[in-house]
Amino acid sequence: MKLFHNFKSFFLTAIFTLSGTGSSIYPLLSKNANPKLQIKAYDYSAQAIKFVQANPMYSTAQITDDPASSNPIVGSISASTWDLTSPQLPPNLPEGSADLIILVFVLSALRPEEWAIAVKNIHKVRI
Ligand SMILES: C[S@@+](CC[C@H](N)C(=O)[O-])C[C@H]1O[C@@H](n2cnc3c(N)ncnc32)[C@H](O)[C@@H]1O
Repeated sequence: MKLFHNFKSFFLTAIFTLSGTGSSIYPLLSKNANPKLQIKAYDYSAQAIKFVQANPMYSTAQITDDPASSNPIVGSISASTWDLTSPQLPPNLPEGSADLIILVFVLSALRPEEWAIAVKNIHKVRI
């Protein structure tokens, strides 16, 4: 959380691969003070993504620079399906676009033979 405060004046894109049900995303978003934070979350399970999108914070999160805004959630979040072992990056995630990539229980969710392509994808999106 401190890290995001420190980057207050910068546009910051954080990527969560394998979002699961959002157990890492939402505690972080709820404490975020950087209005320019954009969170992009992916999971290959449509069920997991629906769950992430059903969180009330998903719709209230917005990009705002207005300190007088009454919205308690600052920053924005998008969650979509994507297979981390796919040969292509998702359409809303260009190469070299992520300042920070957060991987919680990610490689352990994959088969060892999928690790190389997963690491390659992660490497492609980092700035
Ligand atoms: C342990 S959870 C991730 C937990 C999450 N990082 C967090 O902080 O709460 C593992 C998730 O990986 C997803 N998953 C497994 N293999 C995947 C793949 N190849 N591509 C995308 N998601 C995958 C599963 O659907 C599941 O939701």
